Amino acid sequence: MSARVRITDLKARKRRGEKIAVLTAYDATMAALFERAGIDTLLVGDSVGMTCLGFESTIPVTLDMMVHHTAAVVRGTSKALVIADMPFLSYQVSADEALRHAGRLVQDAGAAAVKLEGGRAVVDTVSRIVDAGIPVMGHLGLLPQSVNQVGGYRKQGTEPGSADAILADAKSLEHAGAFAVVLEMIPAELARTITAELSVPTIGIGAGPDCDGQVLVSHDMLGLFDRFVPSFVKPYANLATVVVDAAGRYAAEVRAGQFPQPEVSSTSRK
Ligand code: KIV
Repeated sequence: MSARVRITDLKARKRRGEKIAVLTAYDATMAALFERAGIDTLLVGDSVGMTCLGFESTIPVTLDMMVHHTAAVVRGTSKALVIADMPFLSYQVSADEALRHAGRLVQDAGAAAVKLEGGRAVVDTVSRIVDAGIPVMGHLGLLPQSVNQVGGYRKQGTEPGSADAILADAKSLEHAGAFAVVLEMIPAELARTITAELSVPTIGIGAGPDCDGQVLVSHDMLGLFDRFVPSFVKPYANLATVVVDAAGRYAAEVRAGQFPQPEVSSTSRK
């Protein structure tokens, strides 16, 4: 079995100018399919709250939920770098508590790294976790865990001074030891500047084409989660239609007595 992708591989890709493709994953089956497709960096996002658990936002997601889903993604993969989101209030109370919680994602669930939201406000926490040997990915721009404070899922870095603040946050995160920074919903020009100024990779989502890599919420790009689709998402499939169609045909055949056919012997899944 070959080793998993490491954070040092991502840094090397930035140096070589190779783009990094990241997807979110929440369960073993989908993670295995993504790995088969060549996606070797998977983020177990707290977006699991919306894509899989039926919450309106990421705020109700708990550490136990993240451990549960991260462990599944780790079990489903053998090569991917698995990064786990630290959920709301799991890292804001104190750096010591944040370290213990990051430790659970690594020790109990098997993640190789954690991600947390925020800039200069969280750099002491980032340093504490990194100094203990756990790689940390930063997350700037739109911070979904602060949706109640910023008043919705809208582009950041457009107000006077806010672009400079995001750039300063990015430099602070790099200085604190973050191995990469997600840039969510900021102007492409700002993302280009940050990408040029940092030596660690930037991973964009709704931040234009010039980041070192891109991440999308897998349920969005697969067309599975159609309750709310951000404008920057490109739908690479429409799985919601495929699922509704397949389940509908199955139900119709059961109701009509057409499935199972009497002569077809049943087989076990194993
Ligand atoms: O939770 C998540 O899926 C994320 C991505 C949007 C980067 O943080």
